Amino acid sequence: MSANIFVTGACGYIGGSIVAEFARHKGGLLESARIHAAVRSDEQAESLSTLDVSVVKIDLSNPYALAGYMIRNDVSIVIHTATSIDAEVVQNLITALKKRREANGKKAFFIHTSGLSAFDDNTGWPFGEVRDIDPVYFLEKQCTDSYIVDVLVAEQTQAAGLTGLIVMPPTLHGRGGGTWNRLSPQIPALVRAAIKNKQVYKFAKDREVVLTHISDLTTFYAQMAEAILQKRALPAGMSGYYFTVSHSVRWWDILDCLAATMHARGLVDEPTTKVWPSNAFAAEALGVPINFAHSMWDSSPKVVCVNKDLIGWKPVWNRERLLQSIDEEIDDFLELGVPKSSLLDSLRQARG
Ligand SMILES: NC(=O)c1ccc[n+]([C@@H]2O[C@H](COP(=O)([O-])OP(=O)(O)OC[C@H]3O[C@@H](n4cnc5c(N)ncnc54)[C@H](OP(=O)(O)O)[C@@H]3O)[C@@H](O)[C@H]2O)c1
Repeated sequence: MSANIFVTGACGYIGGSIVAEFARHKGGLLESARIHAAVRSDEQAESLSTLDVSVVKIDLSNPYALAGYMIRNDVSIVIHTATSIDAEVVQNLITALKKRREANGKKAFFIHTSGLSAFDDNTGWPFGEVRDIDPVYFLEKQCTDSYIVDVLVAEQTQAAGLTGLIVMPPTLHGRGGGTWNRLSPQIPALVRAAIKNKQVYKFAKDREVVLTHISDLTTFYAQMAEAILQKRALPAGMSGYYFTVSHSVRWWDILDCLAATMHARGLVDEPTTKVWPSNAFAAEALGVPINFAHSMWDSSPKVVCVNKDLIGWKPVWNRERLLQSIDEEIDDFLELGVPKSSLLDSLRQARG
């Protein structure tokens, strides 16, 4: 019997790209899996009608509705991409999947999508470089706020008898394969700010940023799902952290390249960058609360990915390919604009 995989945030940048990749996937057990795409509006549901997936408009704040759907459809894998910071939604999904496990006794897997930007000294991470095979759960538990949902996933999945896996991507780039939101916020916001100011700006200190192209990330999720379907043993729960970095590049190299390329296209006045006049100016231009401008466009987490080898993940993007694709990143913004990001929306609300 084919497996049922439930993806939240199925019209988001990451979730939409996963759904599109899985729907078209050829080979292995994943090819015959049924994908259930969870969205929260009729328009989003309609956008997915071109894909061979089951679309469900469902309220993630309602654990009973979630449990009912998961039991009726024998969901064995939940891939949660809708929000990395909403503990209540995570708790509801785990509760629902637990009820499905209790209903028929079969194993169930909860894959949470978190992020690596919190592992940066700039954002208060006190432990320096970290590997995903280190005791990340215990390190996060000693900190506050940013890490609380990862800790919850590790603890609650274990308590519920589920297999919990935490995927941690860095800043993402590239055009996603989904049907709704197809861009990550960071590079489009830089392009928009540069067009508005006729100038590419940078933060005063150059830092190495870790990145992943969205196509490499969706390959990772496909390989992880395939490993689960093949019943391969994977580190899980308090050891179930998977860092997914495909390459690194200095922020200033991206911005220098952006300035030269945008100048050649007549989009900015200067072929070189300038330092933001102030943090307030940067935050305003990038469209985020002032506290988040650095963490989103200046973060430099020191991380080492080890568990990816157990999945068999070999990303194909690298620094050179990114710098050569800056024209495409500009085209993506000109065609699609700055994406609506529910993460940015929630950050703005949290800061009033
Ligand atoms: N993009 C990156 O560079 C990146 C990197 C690392 C980690 N992450 C994390 O990965 C997660 C997804 O990122 P993304 O770029 O895919 O974001 P996104 O494009 O904003 O997608 C999130 C999707 O989930 C939906 N959603 C959000 N909260 C929901 C809720 N409470 N109930 C139901 N649906 C909800 C949104 O619906 P609406 O469209 O209706 O708002 C949206 O379709 C975020 O938590 C982010 O922190 C992102």
